[in-house]
Amino acid sequence: MDILKNAWYVAAWAHELRDDQPLARRLLDQPVVLFRDAHGVPHALADHCPHRFAPLHRGDLRDGTLGCPYHGLRFDGSGQCVHNPHGDGHVPAAARVRAYPLCERFGAVWIWMDERPPCTLDLPWFDFIDPQQCEVSYGYLQTQANYQLSADNLLDLSHFQFLHPSTLGSAAMAADSGRFEQNGETVWSRRDARGELLPPFVARGLGLPDGTLADRRIAVRWDPPCLLAIEVCVTPASSSMEYVSRSAHLLTPESATSTHYFYAVGLPKALGELARTMTAYAVTGLTQPFRDEDLPMLAAQQRAFDEAGDASPPAVLLPIDGGIVRARRVMERKLALEAAGQTRPHAP
Ligand code: FES
Ligand SMILES: [Fe+2]
Repeated sequence: MDILKNAWYVAAWAHELRDDQPLARRLLDQPVVLFRDAHGVPHALADHCPHRFAPLHRGDLRDGTLGCPYHGLRFDGSGQCVHNPHGDGHVPAAARVRAYPLCERFGAVWIWMDERPPCTLDLPWFDFIDPQQCEVSYGYLQTQANYQLSADNLLDLSHFQFLHPSTLGSAAMAADSGRFEQNGETVWSRRDARGELLPPFVARGLGLPDGTLADRRIAVRWDPPCLLAIEVCVTPASSSMEYVSRSAHLLTPESATSTHYFYAVGLPKALGELARTMTAYAVTGLTQPFRDEDLPMLAAQQRAFDEAGDASPPAVLLPIDGGIVRARRVMERKLALEAAGQTRPHAP
């Protein structure tokens, strides 16, 4: 599966970038080094020196410039070599590295890696992880699977009862067959449980006691390339209150067969200490099934695809795959347009 280049991707959580320590990360199968300058502005450069191709992330950051660890050329955030410690100090015109456009939004640093100019990053439905307005807890995992395969797993609410029986799944949730919608390039996958004995993990995440009977509604929103927001609404049978939890799941290809998986949970700052406690609990709680149950499954699926190669028969599709099929079609169309040089601005 090809990697769509004409899109914004999360390169890192904002708190990962420092002005005293470069961060190396492979993104869209390219080595990238990320750092902040002395003013806190984030920068991303191709992670190889134009002199003898030394990895720049092994160098030092000083006054907002990154020094090559091999012979000491120094580069600013635009990728321009600004210091040559050898001879008369002349800086050859070609002594520069590629700099990637960045944008800091929603507590993340987003990167644009296409050669064509970037479009506006406009994803207002992720405001619930905007650290200006919300308390946010962050998580990160790496999947050993293609980015679209990794997103399929999040759009697929039918695997809970089988892969996550002790955390997310329940018989009541499994009884619903799910609903799927598409609005432009946005795909929705929904599933409801009525009169469910809430799984303890879900109940505790919302501050409800074990043994709570409730209706639970899950809605997954997918937008290209692989940006997902999941909303869980719970109405206990004993009250008319609705408890809502929102999480963001932002996937960035590391390579064709591995993915950076950034996830976060946010609640309004107005909730104070409670918001901090609950978002931290939710991220810690989500990490366990993701790490111990989803990631091994994704890695095994990717290995099976790799082993089958082109001899792989077409996948058998079930009605439960409605969300995945719609998202894959959107991506196929975008990849075909990109291959034909006909990209359209991303305007969700
Ligand atoms: S390899 Fe970077 S200065 Fe020589
Ligand atoms: Fe899962």
